[in-house]
Formats: sequence, structure tokens, C-alpha cells
Amino acid sequence: MNIRLLFLLILTISCNENYYEEHAVVSATKEATNAGIKILEQGGNAFDAMIAVDLALAVTYPNAGNLGGGGFMVYIDSSGQSGSLDFREKAPKKSHSSMYLDANGEVITGLSYEGALSVGVPGTVAGLFEVYKKFGSISLDKIFEPAIYLAKNGHSLTKKQSKLYNDYKPKILELNDTSLFSKDFKEGDVFINDSLHNTLNKILKHGPEIFYNGEISNKIVNYVQSKGGIISNDDLVSYSPVWREPFIFNFNGYEIYTMGLPSSGGIVMAQILKSLQLMDQEKIINDKIKYIKTLIELEKLSFADRSYFLGDPDFINTYFIDSILSNNYLIDRMELIDFESSNPSTVINHGEVKIIESEETTHYSIHDKYGNSVAVTTTLNGNFGSKLIIPELGFFLNNEMDDFAIKTDHQNIYGMIGGKNNSIEPEKRMLSSMTPTIIKKDNEVFMILGSPGGPTIITSVLQTILNVMYFDMSIKKSVKSPRFHHLWLPDIVYFEDGSFNKKMFEYLDKLNYKLSKRSQIGRVDAILIEKNKIYTAADPRGDDYASGK
Ligand code: GLY
Repeated sequence: MNIRLLFLLILTISCNENYYEEHAVVSATKEATNAGIKILEQGGNAFDAMIAVDLALAVTYPNAGNLGGGGFMVYIDSSGQSGSLDFREKAPKKSHSSMYLDANGEVITGLSYEGALSVGVPGTVAGLFEVYKKFGSISLDKIFEPAIYLAKNGHSLTKKQSKLYNDYKPKILELNDTSLFSKDFKEGDVFINDSLHNTLNKILKHGPEIFYNGEISNKIVNYVQSKGGIISNDDLVSYSPVWREPFIFNFNGYEIYTMGLPSSGGIVMAQILKSLQLMDQEKIINDKIKYIKTLIELEKLSFADRSYFLGDPDFINTYFIDSILSNNYLIDRMELIDFESSNPSTVINHGEVKIIESEETTHYSIHDKYGNSVAVTTTLNGNFGSKLIIPELGFFLNNEMDDFAIKTDHQNIYGMIGGKNNSIEPEKRMLSSMTPTIIKKDNEVFMILGSPGGPTIITSVLQTILNVMYFDMSIKKSVKSPRFHHLWLPDIVYFEDGSFNKKMFEYLDKLNYKLSKRSQIGRVDAILIEKNKIYTAADPRGDDYASGK
């Protein structure tokens, strides 16, 4: 073989991405992905695998995978039926709009994101059993087996995990008396969680009742109340997940199925994509500087709407949704974009945002051989949530209450502000940014994706989609590509290393944009299906892992 042919062969091989033909799972840990694969190989469907992955993440990714948090699932089943499940946490019945304020109406730092008062009523366990009730096809014994095994026998910590556990250990030990976090972690350590093993066995044996109206709920309530919290047995008994219509819209002929309220993800993404459709997209695609500028400005407009309009649809009047997605409205809003310079986000002078938390949540995508597709994003909010872990139960409780607007114009842990529609009310769900998404092309499932990252979830999903649709990137390249993000307020363009070249920096600088580098924006775990080939992308920013057959 001559050298040119050899070169061409190597080039062809390196351009051909691996693909699967039957099923695939992509999640934040190898163990959780393998748990899903095991279920699929036993003949289970994507929904059975979803439960197995979720439980395995609760064991192997305790900073975000959870029993003590909540989440959203978007699905399209083998018959083409779509839906979404809202198992988001709710505010306790004793909560009220000023619960994080002092006598002068000032925010008491930390109360909404650390410790017992930050905990929302967890929805995950109810959500998983709700999925099983509707779609389960193999025994719960089989579905629980991988997570139970992992809790009992442990999983090996990656370098990133051991660092994370060490970083959060002081706060966890300050708030709890737990031996689970009382050592120095290093890569390769086997992390065993006997308490969680017992808890999982009990949930398997007794079902969600034990978590919401039995031994486990009693322990949750006793622990939270002993630490000054307000969650009661009545809160847990009253919790139920909600099947909702997914949020569906069209972009350039693609049908996008994503999460509607109480997540802002679908609406914000739809506003941005629909606005792009109203512009000269060819120009944007062919001019990277114009693309960046346009996206930054559209994100500003949309996040401004988010903070004013959006909240739990069971509590607010949602009459505005059609309006803020209408072409007339979007055209009017785009009039505000100044393409010659940078329009300041507001005349109000906010201080620099202090991001005091990493943006931890976790997403996984599954496709099975029957044609079911599942996108799930689940969260404790911050890393390890409230940092409260009930020693006897072995799982962390969320700090989701901070996703409410605890005071108008007060920045939450992500730097976001919110208004009245997202104020705290008993049993209300806090507004989310989680954006589990499934996209159809020519009536077939084309992409399944989502991301952690608080508000950066929306832009991470958006940019992954646009990388594929605008720039013809493979799903792997699309996920790997550096991301940038604007939240409206604070008026800062966040960017990952490699997002902008010298010319772009000069341009953004000339327009007076404030720039701030972030080590990481989002962690997208995605599947792309084309011509019956299933391509996967596990975000290299983490230890994320894809597998399939
Ligand atoms: N806690 C992050 C979110 O729901 O957006």
C-alpha cells in the first residue's frame, strides 16, 4: 500500500465515529451507564434502564445523583407517544416567602442553600416508581440489583471524585455526624455505603410508601427537624410527581421535545431558537463572530424574560407563554439588540456575582432496541445539595429551595435573580433550568441530550444542538466544543477556554463586553441517531461514560 493510500485509510478510520445499532446509555459514571446497559441486555426497556441508572447514580455520584432530590424526564416511546414526568421537589407546607430574610428584610446568607431549611420535599423516589408503574417491563428486583450491589460492594473513586469528596468533606462533617466522609479520599479508593444499601433494600421491599409514609420518611423528618428544618410527615405524604405535556416546538424542521414549566429550559431555549429562525441564519452560520454576538444577545433577552415571567405552572397564570413565544413579540424584543456595540443588560447597577457553588445536577440519555428514548436530568441543586446526609439512610438531601427567588433581585447560588412568579409558596415547585431534550428529524428520534449546570444547562444544550445543526459537527465534537454563556444579569459573558480566538476577543472587548473564564460550562451527555446508527457522546469535562450494543 502506498503512503497516500495509507494516509487516506487512517483519515477515514479516524473520521468514522463508533456507533451502536441496538441501544445506548450515556451518564455521569461508568457504573451507572453499565447498570442501564445490564437492564437493556436483560430485555428491559429504556424506562427500566432509566430507574437502574438513576439509582446507580444515587450510589456512585452522590454529589448530584440522588434519592433526596428531584428531576424531570422527557420521553418518546416506541409508538411515538411523548410525555414528561415532573418529579421536582416542592416547598414544604410551612414555608413562606420571607423565610430566608431577617427582621430588616435582608437575606440571611446560607439559609437557602445550606442545611435543613434549604431542603425541598424530595421527588425522586416517587418519580422512579411512577415511571415503573407506567412503563416497567421487568422485575424491580432486577432493576434495583446494580445499585444495591454497588452500595454494598462499593465503587472505585476516580481522581475527580476523590478531590470533590475531599473538598466538600469539611462542610459535610460540620453539618452531620457521619463516618462515611471522615477519611481522606484518594483515587482508586473503594467507596462503600452500607446505610444506602439498607435504604435501597427497604425501598425495593416496601415501595415508595416507606419513603413517603413510613420508616424512611420518619427518619427524614426527624433528622431535618433536629437540624432546624420544617419538612413534616404531612409534606412527604402529600408529595406526588406529575405527568405533564412536554414542551414541543419546531426549529428549522426539527421537532424539539423538551421540558416545560416548572423548568424554564424549554421556554428559554425556544425563545432563542425561534428568534434565530427569524434572522438571516445563513449569515449567522457563516460568520462565527456574528453567531457569538447573536447568541449572547438572545440569551440576555431570554434570561431577562425567565426571571420575570416564569414559575410553577400550578401556581401562576401561564397566559403569557404563547405571547412570549410569538413572532411579533420576539421581533420586538430583537429590536433591543445593538449589533454595533453591547447594550448593557440593565441600568440597575448590580454587584459582581459571586458564584458560591458549583452547578451540580446530572443528566443521562438512553435509547433502547424497542425504539424508546428517554432524557432525564436530576439534581440535588448544589454539590451534595444541602450537605445534610442522614447517617442511617446514607443519602444527601437537596438544597433546591435556593432555586426560588428568595427575595426579588437577590442572586441565588447561580447568580440568577427571579421575581414574584418564582417566590416561595407552600407546596410550590421552584423554577428549574433543567432541559432534558429529545429531537426528531423527519419524524424519527435524532438527538437525546441534556446537561447539568444550573442556568448554563440551557445554553449548553442549545449550543450542542446548534453545533450539530448549524456547523455539521459530529455529536462527539459538538459536546466537546467549548461553550460560552450569558445570563442577562450578571452582565458577563462566561466562556470556557478555547471558545474565542484572538479576533473574537478583540471584537468582544471593543464592544465592552465583560468576560469571565469558567473552567467548565455544562456537561452534556448525548445520543444522536442517524440511519439507524446510534452515536454517543459522554462529555469529556467529567468522568461521563457511554456504552451500548
Ligand atoms: N437546581 C438546578 C435547576 O433545577 O436548574
